[in-house]
Amino acid sequence: LPDGLAPTPPMGFNNWNSTGCAIDEKMIRDTADLFVSTGLKDAGYEYVNVDDCWAAESRDANGRLTHHPVRFPSGIKALADYVHSKGLKFGIYTSAGTLTCARTMPGALDHEEIDARTFADWGVDYLKYDNCNNQGRPALERYTKMRDALRATGRPIVYSLCEWGQNKPWEWGKDVGHLWRTTGDINDSWQSALTLFKANAPLDRYAGPGHWNDPDMLEVGNGGMTDTEYRSHFSLWAMMAAPLLIGTDLRKATPATLRILANREVIAVDQDPLGVQARVVRGEGGHWVLAKPLRGGDLAVALFNETDQTATVSTTAAELGLPRGAGHVIRDLWEGRESHTTGRISASLPAHATAVYRVRAGADWWQAPPAATLGLELP
Ligand code: GLA
Repeated sequence: LPDGLAPTPPMGFNNWNSTGCAIDEKMIRDTADLFVSTGLKDAGYEYVNVDDCWAAESRDANGRLTHHPVRFPSGIKALADYVHSKGLKFGIYTSAGTLTCARTMPGALDHEEIDARTFADWGVDYLKYDNCNNQGRPALERYTKMRDALRATGRPIVYSLCEWGQNKPWEWGKDVGHLWRTTGDINDSWQSALTLFKANAPLDRYAGPGHWNDPDMLEVGNGGMTDTEYRSHFSLWAMMAAPLLIGTDLRKATPATLRILANREVIAVDQDPLGVQARVVRGEGGHWVLAKPLRGGDLAVALFNETDQTATVSTTAAELGLPRGAGHVIRDLWEGRESHTTGRISASLPAHATAVYRVRAGADWWQAPPAATLGLELP
């Protein structure tokens, strides 16, 4: 939606990938606290979102949703207030159906106005709107109805269409929501991350400021992949300008997990204000090259080795469409190392690894301003 609410892909947290329905208000509060204490808030993470199973089984006497008495005993308004008190935003979930996907609470189908009003009254800033139990009614109609209901509340609410890519939401989502799922659910496996990457990557032309492809939330830290694979998952999501919603229990996060999630230079690729999703330059044989134009003329380049063996993946200035004959300063965003090239960008990558570079705009490397003016640390 062109309303300025999601000029860059939303960043934050959602509990589903780590807890499923076993969620409680303490985890949400703890996550908000940890956003502040670990520096993730300063790194850009903003939304603290609750997924399915937060409401009581039935509506109250006034037809309103109410909090689940055991999981959220203090109520949703108090929780939203707490999250806001940390300078963060609060998100919630329901389905464009009669029940949510876990079938533990009512969905919003035919209750769009009252539910949108309830969310606005509680101070909700983000709604993930799922697709389960939809009674076979047309997606466009169901998702548009909630858009209008949210709009009628007058509260700015980021609107995430969780339609799983079933009705090509990239073709109509731009006018309905701020982001749309392009795929089925992620799970904590390398195979899943790879499958979703391959489904989402070709949709680059549909993404832009206010309207993002969503290949689902992050699994980084959940234990089913190696740190190398999690780094690739995070790198590829950033290159695709995907929403970065942390899906792990931060109370148990390892230093390696936090280092991945808090890599500001990779985050800056995701959050670049130009809002262009990377284009796949090449992917044959599982040796991938992706390129993402950034504001000011810089280019982010990812080299990704999908294969099960160490491999050298490379590209050239010509292949990337960079000016011929010029040298370029390139910065490796995981190693934090700066170098220069007159043509080739190349990396020897372990199985499933990704390197991300920022290629600096401008003329020949020898004319580049000294590192100090660029604010860089040279090795
Ligand atoms: C669907 C969604 C998931 C999650 C669950 C909750 O499967 O795609 O992201 O919200 O429902 O039940």
